[in-house]
Amino acid sequence: MSISLIGSGICESATLKLNETFSILKAKGEPVIHLGGGEPKSRSPFEAITTTAGLLNSGEIRYAPVDGTIEMKQAIIRYTYDFYNRKVTPENVIASSGAKQAIMVAMQAILNPQDEVIFIAPYYVSYPEMVKLCGAIPVAVYPEDGTFYPALQDVMQNVTPYTKLIIINSPNNPTGAVYSPEFIKEIVEFCEQKGIYLIMDDIYHRLIFDGIKVANPYDYTKQDIENSKLIVINGVSKQYAMTGFRIGWAVANKNLIRVMSNIQGHQTSGPSILMQKAAIGAINGIQSCVESLRLTLQNNRNVLIKYLKTIDGVKIFVPQGTFYSFVDFSAYIKNSTELSKMLLDKVRVLTVPGIEFGAEGYLRISFCGTIKDITEGVERIKWVIDPNSSNELFIGQRKLVRDWK
Ligand SMILES: Cc1ncc(COP(=O)(O)O)c(C=O)c1O
Repeated sequence: MSISLIGSGICESATLKLNETFSILKAKGEPVIHLGGGEPKSRSPFEAITTTAGLLNSGEIRYAPVDGTIEMKQAIIRYTYDFYNRKVTPENVIASSGAKQAIMVAMQAILNPQDEVIFIAPYYVSYPEMVKLCGAIPVAVYPEDGTFYPALQDVMQNVTPYTKLIIINSPNNPTGAVYSPEFIKEIVEFCEQKGIYLIMDDIYHRLIFDGIKVANPYDYTKQDIENSKLIVINGVSKQYAMTGFRIGWAVANKNLIRVMSNIQGHQTSGPSILMQKAAIGAINGIQSCVESLRLTLQNNRNVLIKYLKTIDGVKIFVPQGTFYSFVDFSAYIKNSTELSKMLLDKVRVLTVPGIEFGAEGYLRISFCGTIKDITEGVERIKWVIDPNSSNELFIGQRKLVRDWK
């Protein structure tokens, strides 16, 4: 079988693969706990359901404009005004099948083979693969001070004449770090000065804790949108717990949006009209569901951190947003793939190895599930890794015996 060079260089999505593993084990009746997930468990907003049901009932579900319906674009325009204080036109927005596709078509519109794309490590698993899909070169930047907070200097040291695009994801998947307004200001100004495209992947920007504020990149841009290389990405997946609806969007200059739309037209013909209806319902509907989710996640985070602190030697960074914590287990096992596999094999707890995000020794532990899953999951993890654990652990009726060091 002959496979393309690009195709054969693309890795499977580690996080989506975990969801598959979870479903298989669950179907077998295994007492599995999913702490690797990337989706909130709350119900979709009421308005998302009713608007979709209304269109479904009509029985007329047709093609939609490639870059989104007028109504969808109006909702995105309003969202951009409400949350970014920026007035944009319908030509400045494109709706896609998830934030993922919005990022992908933006990259396809921007990148030539051999161009370099910078993103901050630890990074979202899909960034390197998306860059490779464009034939371009991923460049992960590791903050020199060993924290999860990059400095402009870290980025600058990796910029070459081939750097075409920088991606910033704050709040960050997998660490939950929220980058400072100073850093966002510096990066926006730096990209404008150098003529480098900047993608702000803001998919988690409303899921933030402790009264912290997420910087608005438009506050720092000196260029009007038509001359700007700033692309702001958002979507309904995380904030409205609507991962299955697959609606995300990009806001950028008209020219770029037109090219992205041309590309998208040949890929999917645009997002489903039914799913756009749902997204419109969510964006225009009562927003208390987002606040309620945010508060639940904040409480879940507090519980997770409290439980993790009972494990000696693990290093914990307290997430300021998202629903992920990135925990350093290197005091126990340095190989994160091995540790994650061990947790799955021994106690049926799913976690994502840090290496998938470019950082060895860590596990990404999600707190978007139930409190019971979080507390029981961490107890099982502790039992596996702590040499001082009791010899036995009961999972339901099943008795496990600790026969390893
Ligand atoms: C940082 C980041 N960007 C984009 C996405 C994709 O979001 P969507 O489900 O809207 O495609 C995710 C999903 O996990 C993410 O974590």
